[in-house]
Amino acid sequence: MQALMCHAFGPISGLRLEQAPDPVPAAGQVRVRVRACSLNFPDALIVQGLYQVKPALPFSPGAEFAGVVEALGEGVQQVSVGDPVVAFAGHGGLAERCVVDAARLLPLPPGMDFAQGAAFLLTYGTALHALRTIAGLRAGQTLLVLGAAGGVGLAAVEVGKALGARVLAAASSAERLELARHHGADAGIDYATQDLRRRVLELSDGRGADVVLDPVGGSYAESALRATAWRGSYLVVGFAAGEIPRLPLNLLLLQERRLLGVYWGEALQRDPAAHLRDVEQLVQWFAQGRLRPPITERVGLDGALGALQRMAARQLMGKVVVELGAQEVGAQEPGPG
Ligand SMILES: NC(=O)c1ccc[n+]([C@@H]2O[C@H](COP(=O)([O-])OP(=O)(O)OC[C@H]3O[C@@H](n4cnc5c(N)ncnc54)[C@H](OP(=O)(O)O)[C@@H]3O)[C@@H](O)[C@H]2O)c1
Repeated sequence: MQALMCHAFGPISGLRLEQAPDPVPAAGQVRVRVRACSLNFPDALIVQGLYQVKPALPFSPGAEFAGVVEALGEGVQQVSVGDPVVAFAGHGGLAERCVVDAARLLPLPPGMDFAQGAAFLLTYGTALHALRTIAGLRAGQTLLVLGAAGGVGLAAVEVGKALGARVLAAASSAERLELARHHGADAGIDYATQDLRRRVLELSDGRGADVVLDPVGGSYAESALRATAWRGSYLVVGFAAGEIPRLPLNLLLLQERRLLGVYWGEALQRDPAAHLRDVEQLVQWFAQGRLRPPITERVGLDGALGALQRMAARQLMGKVVVELGAQEVGAQEPGPG
């Protein structure tokens, strides 16, 4: 099979598109013919050895994907050969075939094509887990989303709206803010040119944001924490800016703010039942048209390396989906994103 392989942790340019042996599912595992794999920032980190998880070498990146079950390991009963599925595997999706634990598969939700299925679980799952379970976001509250035109950011905009919040989107250009507005944001803040804290206060009658979701970190974090309301919550989701911020704790004391960590990939393993409840909610919102996976670009496996480089260089918006394979397998046709 063709696979984008990482043979040594290092620059993304070190990835190689090459022939690799078809993987064989062990007991409890399933082999999936991958039809679409979306890119997430952790894919760029994991190949550089900068992610908290370091797979055994060599491996293919690609944390989440959709495809068709092709072979079953011993004891697998949850799925059958030919089933269309979505998977959060952590890595392995940028290959024509991937072996994954059966527990990490879900049926491809009704009405979803493979590209949408590949761009669903990780970002929307993270957003709902962060906003509902960790922060307890309520209808009528003000949510500030940083990096609001990125994968997690746009998912947080849509999930925030679905939970009934007023959503302020912050991003680094007018074009990015337009995309966030298209996905439901009520107002936008260009933090490349505007004072983030001042704009949030202006847009919230001086109260600040009840909940801040931050997948970016870096220099915006302190301004965003200062823009958090009395007893508001600041969600630490990621550090796409590359710098892990150090925040003065007096900013918590002075406004009884809460600083909350979010680690979706770990939480779903510790509490699979809660994860399934979240997925049910997300699938329902998708069916109602309230979630629209923001697929901005589709490439083949030969375009994945370049797209990962552009992701790491802050040049992408929304979700890039890598499409693999032809129409010979699978019950569904890819549709428009
Ligand atoms: N904690 C969890 O459970 C969890 C789950 C999923 C992802 N994450 C983390 O969340 C973060 C975002 O992931 P994602 O997949 O949404 O990424 P993404 O689609 O690439 O979005 C990241 C956003 O960060 C902003 N950014 C600011 N400085 C950047 C820089 N130097 N390089 C790249 N982007 C920069 C960009 O928006 P602007 O240009 O508008 O600033 C970009 O849209 C990552 O750190 C990821 O590891 C955490």
